[in-house]
Amino acid sequence: MAEKLYIGTNTKMYKTIAETVRFLEKLGQNTADIPRQELVLFVIPSFTALERAKGVIKGESILLGAQNMCWEDQGQFTGEVSPLMLKEVGVQIVEIGHSERRHVFGEDDETENKKVLTALRHGFTALLCIGETAQQKEYGIADEVLRTQLKIGLHGVTENLLPRCMIAYEPVWAIGASGTPASREYAEEKHTVIRDTLKELYGGAAAMVPLLYGGSVNNANAVELIEMNNIDGLFIGRSAWDADNFTAIIRDVLPAFRQKH
Ligand code: 13P
Repeated sequence: MAEKLYIGTNTKMYKTIAETVRFLEKLGQNTADIPRQELVLFVIPSFTALERAKGVIKGESILLGAQNMCWEDQGQFTGEVSPLMLKEVGVQIVEIGHSERRHVFGEDDETENKKVLTALRHGFTALLCIGETAQQKEYGIADEVLRTQLKIGLHGVTENLLPRCMIAYEPVWAIGASGTPASREYAEEKHTVIRDTLKELYGGAAAMVPLLYGGSVNNANAVELIEMNNIDGLFIGRSAWDADNFTAIIRDVLPAFRQKH
């Protein structure tokens, strides 16, 4: 079980620079009293907002992430963003393999693996997102899919780099306006598969990798998810994009997290 509560949001292709700045200022004020020894709070805005975002975050109270990254440092990769550029801005987390990257933009596990290795090589925390589609769930191969995504995604990641890895389990069918949130029992079952796969790969070190659930997390289901043994955090889209609502969720889940420890 991870020692801290991990909560973050990916703002996808929403929020302009100005909106991101306002959101971060408000979130920072709203959560200023929450001790960061027990909470890792992160926000992953659009690329264009990263530099200004970095400027308004106080210290490490909110970690800043990028939604994607190229696996090469530089080169003829029109439209891509290099790890060096993200480092220059001061990004701490790189999100890799979000469902929309995989299923809208066709990224595969081998690509995610290259990005994970590059992110770690540059000192970032790699947030690897995995999850089965509705069809894969229907076929009964969700566990196999998760194990494959993990084993390829983390291929070549040595145990000493594991403290800079986070895994987000985001079932594709649960994400977004047309998604249905996973029940806490289902989410816990899949988080257990993920934990067991990590144990197979890394032994005891697997216990400390934060496993976050994402996919239609909202004010009604956040607490019951966090109560589960293998759910160490939440990765939230829509319900987090209003700073006050995001804060309400964080404050709701903190007591449930503390109870587990
Ligand atoms: P929603 O919470 O809007 O379903 O999005 C989840 C997500 O994709 C976070 O990365």
